Amino acid sequence: MKKAKLILDRDYVISPIDKRIYGAFVEHLGRCVYTGLYEPGHPTADEEGFRGDVLELVRALDVPVVRYPGGNFVSGYRWEDGVGPRELRPRRLDLAWKTTEPNEVGLHEFASWAKKANSSVLYSVNLGTRGPQDAQNLVEYANHPAGSAWSDLRIKNGAKDPLDIRLWCLGNEMDGPWQMGSKTAQEYARVANEAAKMMKWTDDRIELVACGSSGPTMPTFGLWERTVLSECYDNVDYISLHRYYGNPNGDSADFLASTMDLEAFIRTVASICDAVKGEKHKKKRIHLSLDEWNVWYHSHAQDQELHKRAPWGTALPLLEDVYNFEDALLVGLILITILRNADRVKIACMAQLVNVIAPILTRPGGGAWRQTIYWPLKQASEFGRGVSLLAKIECEKTDTKHYTDVPTVDAAAVENESGDVTVFAVNRGAEDAALACDLRSFGAFRTVRHSVLHHDDPLAVNTEADPDNVVPKEIPAAAEDGQIRLPAASWNVIRFCR
Ligand code: AHR
Repeated sequence: MKKAKLILDRDYVISPIDKRIYGAFVEHLGRCVYTGLYEPGHPTADEEGFRGDVLELVRALDVPVVRYPGGNFVSGYRWEDGVGPRELRPRRLDLAWKTTEPNEVGLHEFASWAKKANSSVLYSVNLGTRGPQDAQNLVEYANHPAGSAWSDLRIKNGAKDPLDIRLWCLGNEMDGPWQMGSKTAQEYARVANEAAKMMKWTDDRIELVACGSSGPTMPTFGLWERTVLSECYDNVDYISLHRYYGNPNGDSADFLASTMDLEAFIRTVASICDAVKGEKHKKKRIHLSLDEWNVWYHSHAQDQELHKRAPWGTALPLLEDVYNFEDALLVGLILITILRNADRVKIACMAQLVNVIAPILTRPGGGAWRQTIYWPLKQASEFGRGVSLLAKIECEKTDTKHYTDVPTVDAAAVENESGDVTVFAVNRGAEDAALACDLRSFGAFRTVRHSVLHHDDPLAVNTEADPDNVVPKEIPAAAEDGQIRLPAASWNVIRFCR
């Protein structure tokens, strides 16, 4: 058995954890909305057509914020299409995903769904094909109490009270050539700053997320962030990061090391934010919104086929990655990385929530079930609230194809609001590891509970017929010598309870 050591000290705090790091994302894409969260006529549908079985699984995840309505979709979206009487709403071609959007679900419906899910909305405005005035109209429509054209229209459309959306994204992946209305850094920076000003002048309680580059491998990365923040610094609060990982070549060690890349990505963007802060002699700090992250690769080939067979369809099964056990380990590692960077990452959204690269899958007219990746997100959301602690890990390190010095065991630790301490740990290795925990100034705990997510087959999946193939299990907590056994290839939640 390998040996590992974890040292925690109550005085070594990274930061209070913003609960919005356990957010998710709903895009008008594939079957995320239609036959995902919305399916009138489904046996569990409520009076508004929302699937009760899906709502139940989402509520159990306890997702504090849900980004909506895109994604690439938003860059051509006219939000007015989705409000008012349903029979008058247009069907539109969505150029982002080559599908047809029926607009049966729009702003009011989604706000109502989010309320039922106990979540708040992170609304992305279209800064691709539209601009500051449309964004301002939307804030006025959603948040202004009454007495103006847009707020009165909201009231006429059935919402007497403001929808009270406090968090907004200024567009989506605007440096991507695949984006409708993509822009140079300077073009975007100007539009985003003007939109930000007008949106905040309309409602000064809102917070805004500026678009970062769509990824660290983009040629625009770095200079994009600097240019955007140089222009928008005073008027925005966060900058976005998007990152997806995959294992197309079956190199599991390299795949599970991908969070080394995420760590560097987060730290680089944080450094750019601070460089602009320095250049501008500002007190204010810009924080990070990792508002798209996940594993995404299983469905790529299938999606190309589907687009050829059914262009312009509605509710096509796009991006329906079926996640295996190994993917759940990477999701656990991503959550550990987010917690370790809780001083800078204040918002994070698993992309997405239902059917589309999602922790929940549904069958139209049938069941809803949890994918493997559901579990680390659920457990982190449940036990990962409070204060993020510095988790000093001593363990073996290895090299993979793209990464060096990859720790076999990675961990994050949280002092919960109750005074309990929760350790999230992934053993990346092929051998069990004995984890010695030195909790120093925390003193004694009454009980230690240990939940493990492990499967002997890294490719094991959950299906509608076998939904509990990969689920966490409680195991006896500590061996006699006080060490905690982390099985080979496992996600662990170890709770030291008062
Ligand atoms: O989440 C799927 C897509 O990934 C989003 O629409 C886009 O923003 C990103 O490229």
